[in-house]
Amino acid sequence: MRATYEKAEQIVSRLSTDEKIRLVSGRDAWTTEALDEHGVPSIMLTDGPHGVRKQKGSTDHLGINESVPATCFPPAVTLGSTWDPALIEEVGAALGRECRANDVAVLLGPGLNIKRHPAGGRNFEYFSEDPFVSGKLAAAMVRGIQSQGVGACLKHYAANNQEFYRMSVDTIVDDRTLHELYLTGFEIAVKESAPWTVMCSYNKINGEHADVSRGLLTETLRDEWGFDGLVMSDWFAVSDRALGLCAGLDLEMPGSKGTWDAEVSDAHAKGLLTTAELDLAATRVIDLALRSQNDTATSQVDPEAHHRLARRAAAAGTVLLTNNGILPLERTGSIAVVGAFAKTPRYQGAGSSLVNPTQLDTFLDALRAAVGDAAEVHYAPGYDPTTGATEDALLDEARRVASRADVVIVLAGLPSSFESEGFDREHLRLPDGHTAVVNAALDANPRTVVALLNGSPVELPWADRPAAILEAYLGGQAGGSALADVILGDVAPGGRLAESFPMAASDLPSDRDFARHPKQVEYREGLYVGYRFHDSAGMPARFPFGHGLSYTAFHHSTPTVRKSGDGYSVTLTVTNAGPREGSDVVQVYVRDPQSAAYRPHQELKGFAKVHLTPGASEKVTIKLDQRAFAVWDVRSQEWRTEPGDFEIRVGSSSTDIRSTRTVSITEGTAVSPSHGPAAFVATDNEFRTMLGGEIPTPERSVPFHRDSTAADLRETAAGRAAAAMLSKEAGKQFDTTHADATTIAMFEAATREAPLRMIAMASGGKLTLASLDRLIRLLNVGSFKSWRARG
Ligand code: BGC
Repeated sequence: MRATYEKAEQIVSRLSTDEKIRLVSGRDAWTTEALDEHGVPSIMLTDGPHGVRKQKGSTDHLGINESVPATCFPPAVTLGSTWDPALIEEVGAALGRECRANDVAVLLGPGLNIKRHPAGGRNFEYFSEDPFVSGKLAAAMVRGIQSQGVGACLKHYAANNQEFYRMSVDTIVDDRTLHELYLTGFEIAVKESAPWTVMCSYNKINGEHADVSRGLLTETLRDEWGFDGLVMSDWFAVSDRALGLCAGLDLEMPGSKGTWDAEVSDAHAKGLLTTAELDLAATRVIDLALRSQNDTATSQVDPEAHHRLARRAAAAGTVLLTNNGILPLERTGSIAVVGAFAKTPRYQGAGSSLVNPTQLDTFLDALRAAVGDAAEVHYAPGYDPTTGATEDALLDEARRVASRADVVIVLAGLPSSFESEGFDREHLRLPDGHTAVVNAALDANPRTVVALLNGSPVELPWADRPAAILEAYLGGQAGGSALADVILGDVAPGGRLAESFPMAASDLPSDRDFARHPKQVEYREGLYVGYRFHDSAGMPARFPFGHGLSYTAFHHSTPTVRKSGDGYSVTLTVTNAGPREGSDVVQVYVRDPQSAAYRPHQELKGFAKVHLTPGASEKVTIKLDQRAFAVWDVRSQEWRTEPGDFEIRVGSSSTDIRSTRTVSITEGTAVSPSHGPAAFVATDNEFRTMLGGEIPTPERSVPFHRDSTAADLRETAAGRAAAAMLSKEAGKQFDTTHADATTIAMFEAATREAPLRMIAMASGGKLTLASLDRLIRLLNVGSFKSWRARG
């Protein structure tokens, strides 16, 4: 057992019940309670995940107030596309150093929810549509951060895959899908990196709030996976503090000025919350505080070195989607740069992860500096960087500049108002202005390269027209230079898509029930998410999972597959057979051609990134353990491998499989039959079978209760009056006068969607739960006025 944990236990044995109750809720937005007389320090937790967001002055958790300058590394979507755990670990270590320099004990990241639908507003903050990639990369990030004596935080646990009503929506998902898709990433990261903390999500899972789910927070996380750190709530995610303590939610964040204390004391007095349970939570809070009082690492930060690392990471996550040979670009002649993102880059997502960068590179400056006098660079903005809108004069100028140049580089993508924490995207299209500019440039000059700056997939109906397309995603503060590095070939584009780019959102089975109903979201597609769907349905993606070109050519030798431990090892030699340096990602998929349980066509179970100079070779060995072949057996509640033949498919994307080997597994156990949705979206009958019971009916808005939202209140006249008052109060709490349009949109969504209990928690003690309960009772009989009168 850790020494800090033992010490924490000793301290707890000397605490009063009140002290323990105080300790298991935060002190304020970002710090924990101290008990000075017992030697328990207060520690600071901050966002995260791709930079340190330590807020200056007044605090909020929505990105409204400014934070201290910190390196803005590329967000998870870009890091995810690197498929490079070693690089991500380096970034993690840099984040850890910046935390230490700022006295931050825990960085609130990485986020590793699965991108169930490409329109997820917060997809930029997550790694992949695949749990194996998510888990491996999150583990690397955690190892890096924690190497500096700073805690990491896996979030948001679990099944939090949309922003629409994220604070209360009920995720209805079958047990197999939950385990195989939505929990596996967390499992890998917990087992491979021992994170200090995990953050529970806001949503419900099959009718139960994440913060009170003993199954998730204790049985799965601790008993099955061996997690030994602390579980905290997402900000104001607590639905019932006493129940949460029983379930394994150790720390309420942020503090809610004692909102829940009376209920917790009461539950304790009645024996509903045992002393042992309360002690456990208090011990874990103290353990975390003591763990961070170490002298593991120096607090020296070299901002320039971190900026260089951010630049390297951005280039490594840039995906070359198409190329007719125009890239890398020659430094001669005249180059037209079209698109306002070249001067005002989109480089990170909006919301709680917003980092205040130490410096910001732009593509235009970087390109000009890199080509010097060797080429002329002309620029036309084409569209407004904030709205994405264009107008005739801007289009004419773009056309003119494009037609006169030898080559055109168009920067297009998504303005931050299109994707943010707090709301989902309404469609996958680029802003009309960006599409118009791309088409104008292509009409004017076929030698047009399009570079995309966005945090999640977009529909690209014109994809076969440009001479090359680069998906640069969100590059962080050095993204502009990194893009110039890649375009000019100073650095190879290292990225591979960690998510599929569908032709159209409507192709996807998850589209049928994504962000539609405020109360409930039904995962009727089961396992058919991302490439698991495209490959199984034979419905091609525009760009498949794992795809990414390079400036050189990689040759794979025929793989050999050997029995190794409880699984197999796959060995092959990768050779850089082309003229330039580059990196390749060897991807290993497993296919179970015949099974009692329904299975996607294939699933990624291993990968390796190699960096090779021209002519160089490297032998790569990828291990596949027993789990690579297993399914979650719902009946026995365990992972089981069904004996039989399995294909091991080695390739460079989910659709570029270069060799297949078959292994026969003789040891294993029969798996219980399970049926998926025959047409990829479960019918009611199929969904009932998958769930093993009835499909819940979405809850009605009335009668009101603590979980009702402001939107629910609008159902009745008294409710509308109360909602207006509450929104006015919320407005006083969070001053958005100087916030941009995206932050305001996020704030408005939060006010509309926040459950009433959350408003009480955020009120700083002004609205107590007792008072809220009285309000709810009166609202249910239609009488808001009498509540006001009594105050
Ligand atoms: C987000 C978390 C974040 C927290 C603190 C929440 O709204 O979901 O990811 O860490 O706020 O800012």
